[in-house]
Amino acid sequence: MFCIFFASIANKMFSIINTLQITEKNAEPEITLLTYLRRSLGLTGTKLGCAEGGCGACTLMVSKYHPHQNRIIHHAVNACLAPLCSLHHCAVTTVEGIGSVASKLHPVQERIAKAHGSQCGFCTPGIVMSMYALLRSNPQPSMHDIQEAFQGNLCRCTGYRPILEGYRTFTKDGGCCGGKGQTNGCCMTNGCIEEHVNDNSMLPAQKLYDQSEFMPLDPTQEIIFPPELMSLSIQPQRELRFVGERVLWIQPCSLKELLELKATYPNAKLVVGNTEVGIEMKFKNLLYPVILAPAYIPELNIIQHTQDGIEVGASVTLTVLGDVLRAAVKKLPTHQTEVFEAVLEQLRWFAGQQIRNVAAVGGNIMTASPISDLNPVFMAAGCKLTVMSKGEKRVLEMDDKFFPGYRKTVLKSEEILLSIEIPYTRKGQYFSAFKQSPRKEDDIAIVTSGMNVLFKEKSNIVQSIRISYGGMAPVTVLATATCNRLLNRQWNEELLEQACTSLAEEMSLSPSAPGGMVTYRRTLTISLFYKFFLTVQHKLALDLGMEGVTVEDVRPEYATATELFQLDSPSGVQLYQAVPPGDNSDDVVGHPIMHLSALKHATGEAIYCDDIPCYENELRLALVTSTKAHALIKSIDTSDAMEVPGVVAFISAKDIPGSNLTGPVFNDETVFADDKVTCVGHIVGAIVADTQAHAQRAAKAVKISYEELHPVIVTIQDAIANKSFYQPVRSMERGDVAQGFKDSDHILHGKMHIGGQEQFYLETNCTVAVPRGEDGEMELFVSTQAASKTQALVAKALGVPANRVVCRVKRMGGGFGGKESRSTILSTVVAVAAYTTKRPVRCMLDRDEDMLVTGGRHPFFGHYKVGYMNNGRVNALDVTLYSNAGNSMDLSLSILERALFHMDNSYNIPNIHGTGYICKTNLPSNSAFRGFGGPQGMMIAESWMSDVALSCGLPAEEVRRMNMYKEGDFTPFNQRLDQFTIDLCWEECMQLSDFNMRKEAVEQYNRQHRWTKRGLAIIPTKFGISYTAVFLNQAGALVHVYSDGSVLLTHGGTEMGQGLHTKMVQVASKTLGIPCSKIHITETSTNTVPNTSPTAASVSSDLNGMAVYNACQTLLQRLQPCIDKNPKGCWEDWVKAAYFDRVNLSANGFYKTPDLGYDFNTNSGRAFNYFSYGVAVSEVEIDCLTGSHKNLHTSIVMDVGKSLNPALDIGQVEGGFMQGLGLFTLEELRYSPDGYLYTRGPGMYKIPSFGDIPIELKVSLLRDAPNEKAIFSSKAVGEPPLFLAASVFYAIKDAITVARAESGLTGPFRLDSPATPERIRNACEDKFTKLCPPADPGTFTPWAVQV
Ligand SMILES: Cc1cc2nc3c(=O)[nH]c(=O)nc-3n(C[C@H](O)[C@H](O)[C@H](O)COP(=O)(O)OP(=O)(O)OC[C@H]3O[C@@H](n4cnc5c(N)ncnc54)[C@H](O)[C@@H]3O)c2cc1C
Ligand code: FES
Ligand code: FES
Repeated sequence: MFCIFFASIANKMFSIINTLQITEKNAEPEITLLTYLRRSLGLTGTKLGCAEGGCGACTLMVSKYHPHQNRIIHHAVNACLAPLCSLHHCAVTTVEGIGSVASKLHPVQERIAKAHGSQCGFCTPGIVMSMYALLRSNPQPSMHDIQEAFQGNLCRCTGYRPILEGYRTFTKDGGCCGGKGQTNGCCMTNGCIEEHVNDNSMLPAQKLYDQSEFMPLDPTQEIIFPPELMSLSIQPQRELRFVGERVLWIQPCSLKELLELKATYPNAKLVVGNTEVGIEMKFKNLLYPVILAPAYIPELNIIQHTQDGIEVGASVTLTVLGDVLRAAVKKLPTHQTEVFEAVLEQLRWFAGQQIRNVAAVGGNIMTASPISDLNPVFMAAGCKLTVMSKGEKRVLEMDDKFFPGYRKTVLKSEEILLSIEIPYTRKGQYFSAFKQSPRKEDDIAIVTSGMNVLFKEKSNIVQSIRISYGGMAPVTVLATATCNRLLNRQWNEELLEQACTSLAEEMSLSPSAPGGMVTYRRTLTISLFYKFFLTVQHKLALDLGMEGVTVEDVRPEYATATELFQLDSPSGVQLYQAVPPGDNSDDVVGHPIMHLSALKHATGEAIYCDDIPCYENELRLALVTSTKAHALIKSIDTSDAMEVPGVVAFISAKDIPGSNLTGPVFNDETVFADDKVTCVGHIVGAIVADTQAHAQRAAKAVKISYEELHPVIVTIQDAIANKSFYQPVRSMERGDVAQGFKDSDHILHGKMHIGGQEQFYLETNCTVAVPRGEDGEMELFVSTQAASKTQALVAKALGVPANRVVCRVKRMGGGFGGKESRSTILSTVVAVAAYTTKRPVRCMLDRDEDMLVTGGRHPFFGHYKVGYMNNGRVNALDVTLYSNAGNSMDLSLSILERALFHMDNSYNIPNIHGTGYICKTNLPSNSAFRGFGGPQGMMIAESWMSDVALSCGLPAEEVRRMNMYKEGDFTPFNQRLDQFTIDLCWEECMQLSDFNMRKEAVEQYNRQHRWTKRGLAIIPTKFGISYTAVFLNQAGALVHVYSDGSVLLTHGGTEMGQGLHTKMVQVASKTLGIPCSKIHITETSTNTVPNTSPTAASVSSDLNGMAVYNACQTLLQRLQPCIDKNPKGCWEDWVKAAYFDRVNLSANGFYKTPDLGYDFNTNSGRAFNYFSYGVAVSEVEIDCLTGSHKNLHTSIVMDVGKSLNPALDIGQVEGGFMQGLGLFTLEELRYSPDGYLYTRGPGMYKIPSFGDIPIELKVSLLRDAPNEKAIFSSKAVGEPPLFLAASVFYAIKDAITVARAESGLTGPFRLDSPATPERIRNACEDKFTKLCPPADPGTFTPWAVQV
């Protein structure tokens, strides 16, 4: 059990680990707790995912005695932002501290693993610790508590549902079905996980896991707060000082000391939570030489009720503020707590729990961010702020003079903020707060607002009104002119109209305003006011009604516009066909066995690349990258960089011993830019130094001068205008398209743009390169999907044959295609640095570097012409696709080809023609991402399908069904569809989702509601399985049987969370007839299985499974004589006998997919081995005023053949679906017009979080659908389900269609992907949007462009 205690002895950090005491002399103020744990203590269970408090991978628990609350508090905290120096008198519990596989698991670790809540496992320790910290303070939480605890945790693999379901078992009613069961009496809808075998099977119901196996939680067994820290905490405190390399950290213990220090160091920063300052120092390159830490000063922690409100000390954390206000709301009459309720509403969506636990209210105010969530509320409420310096104390009101400029306040440099008084409200006063952000949970605001109105007694006449906005200027602002116009007016429609017109004028923005979304932001100011108007109208009607005064209430169909967004508790159903019990109990193929590493993920014992212990003389590497999109390098000045302590070398093109040319297919890029850069983020060089901090600091100090080149091509439209395309241009045709159009009743044209997507694997790219010292040998430990490609490209750069380079991959913390080719660039750079310095070199990219350098999914633009009949039958299609490939070819040709292969999605279009262009732009090279162009091709297909349905005025599901393929039909690339199962998936999905009833309910809802609308869509998918590059469809395996009977299995695939190793062990176990426990996989390596294809294209189980099977069959044949001699013997007997018989107990296996080979020139030959199919139904609800949406329901039926492992396959379906949901509704990469990527971390780039999963999610694996083309009749599952999230997009489009009809708009309309709140709101045109027309394109330079 690890538990770390921190205490101070004068200026020393004193820590205890497992009763081992450690004294840190002069703790470095710039070091975070995370770096200290991982580097100094070797506790690598706590992970680094972003370094900005946005992913939760680094979550651990900090416990401390809180003198002001007189109790011990246990809080989840982000170790990546917690300064080591701030942990005075704290106990830190890491994931290693609560349990281990080797000793004893903690129930929190056991349940997430057994509930299949871990795939790659990189997020798992953080999620475990968020749950653990919650249970320490609240042993029987509600589901709502759990959802709140996870607001600051991200997972890119699982889709979250299994994590919530596993942890639901800790809630009071966790194991109960609640009597809400459907036909068979099981709990289908209340959220209890309950898996059902299909009704037609005679087999008993199966579960994905057995909850009764879970260890009970016994809170009395938890580690207690160390008594020695308790006694230290209650003793009088002394000032602490730590002097670091660049920063002095002082923790004063009295207000007097603090004010004196502030007088001495007026430029010193006060740091409480470090959630702002930490970000500024790490990412904005700011340095604060003196830091004062006032977290424990009593006056700054004050909480007291005054005559006018509640006074809260500036160091009070947001969690405590929430507790205090909740208690006040409970105690006081409603009319007094309107502002408190508004602050609580903002706190619900303020960051995640880990941030709220440490961030202070004073920090939020003093940061003076224009998008602060609290400042608009404080300003609208007119809060009083007490500020103090050594000689003076004064009280200020928060008004529009408080923030004189961007991130400035009126405080003098020697002043500090002491406290804030949040006022009570009175009768006749109403207050609301609003926050609109791209994602509901843990996101920064687009627009925030506080609105405060007071009415004259017993009337609806405005006595005073204050409206403030964040996000509409460089500072929080008051809409003073509008408010003045509303004084003494009745709260009615005329007032509303005047307010809206006035706000449109007053809250204007330049079309080039930073942050973009200008039309949307302007519309929001009005829409939010409208919500306030309705809310107040309703409250007035109730309150004045009680006083005998009648005023008009809100119309019932408008009522939902006044409701606050609620997070509902999700529920899930998983259906799969159970395997009948066979003769061999060791045969677990078809059983939902847990990912073999899941327990180690949950305990932090699973080793990822950066967890490998450091070599003694190891160096760290940081990249030097271009800041220009297209330029010549004139000079590179490294003199300042070389002055940074610990720097060893600057590495660049001249240091490459072999070839600087690289690239996974075409060798059209360089390892280091030599004379020219072609994107922002182009790697120019690298610094190697003793620590990562030094390397990064030096990298930032390298000065590069450029001569800018033109044109700078950033968007697809730029590329089209400049004819900037890579060759070849691909096309595909079947039927007679010209005749098809002639024969059609109608023809329509349309366009769609689909944005790119960042893979956002939780573990960023990482390589450790170790020169072996002889014959040019180099050993690489890499987080990559492509071990052989890495080996080959590193060998090329080093100028050695491939046999000198070994690439080893233990596991990845996610890959999703992002580590298929782009990871090789970093590995090559690190290998060159290791070669040059003759020392081991390591680099794990920071999230911002990774996002900048490695590219992502290709943005696509498509335009189409469709010929169709009156009944919706599509007769002819001509579609043109453009992909934004970036500055090198990478895998773009295959990606474009796959988009063309899927341009029909699942529809039989008799006359079809598609053309594809690959745009060459000045962006970092885009690359593989789950689906590999397929989703983009299919998305455009669904766009024309939706247009046709809208034009014909027919239900979209009818038009889709009518056009769908049938068994035996041919695709545009002339492949016959055999074993076609979409029909079955469709019918089952219609039933599973109760489509028809649901549709009626949606229509009824829409008739009854004006400002919220529901939408429904059913979408099929057909995904071709094989690499389209034929030679890649091969795999190898190597199986060693040791003389004790244990088996070491190696195959060509890599483990990135998808459970490939687990499936391969299942295959070997079934083939050899031995239990899985006898089989072990250590890693993937190029010296065991050579020439492997990247783990990609969903085919790894198919290919490697067959290779493993082949090797195992060889071994079985060799063992057969021993088995025949001793048929009653066991495996060990046969192996031993074979060994003594001198039988070769090592075998390799090989497999290549037969009969593949499509030729674009002749449109002939088989492109795919087979197809995977699926269908999804989704229902959503949109808020027409804000553009937010809720995912209400999704049902998915997926054909995975005979599942090798239903738990893993359902995990892939749900995880893939959620990534698709991110792609189509949420994730937006934002680039400046000159190619600079703004979205470089979870702060600005939003992947789905826990709150985004459909409230009801049903997943069914199609039964009785064996696939004869793959191992044990299974099917590929990795990529195909991702596209099913298009059902959410088209459900949103359906809802928007209904909203537009309210304004008299009908027929097709363009909706680009993702369907963000901005796009949804702009598409729901109404009287408010009309007040904020967009500026004419071409008349201004936008802040961001659609690339
Ligand atoms: C992942 C993440 C999510 C976030 N989400 C949100 C969000 O949803 N909404 C939002 O509004 N903000 C958000 N923030 C911003 C930030 O968390 C808040 O502004 C927070 O309240 C800052 O508090 P802190 O104690 O951590 O500040 P610190 O970083 O410790 O300090 C911030 C600033 O305040 C000054 N300061 C602190 N106390 C005093 C004082 N008593 N007197 C004078 N100056 C003082 C410091 O000198 C410094 O300049 C987020 C930040 C992160 C990292
Ligand atoms: S690494 Fe700390 S929150 Fe992401
Ligand atoms: S399992 Fe959560 S990020 Fe991979």
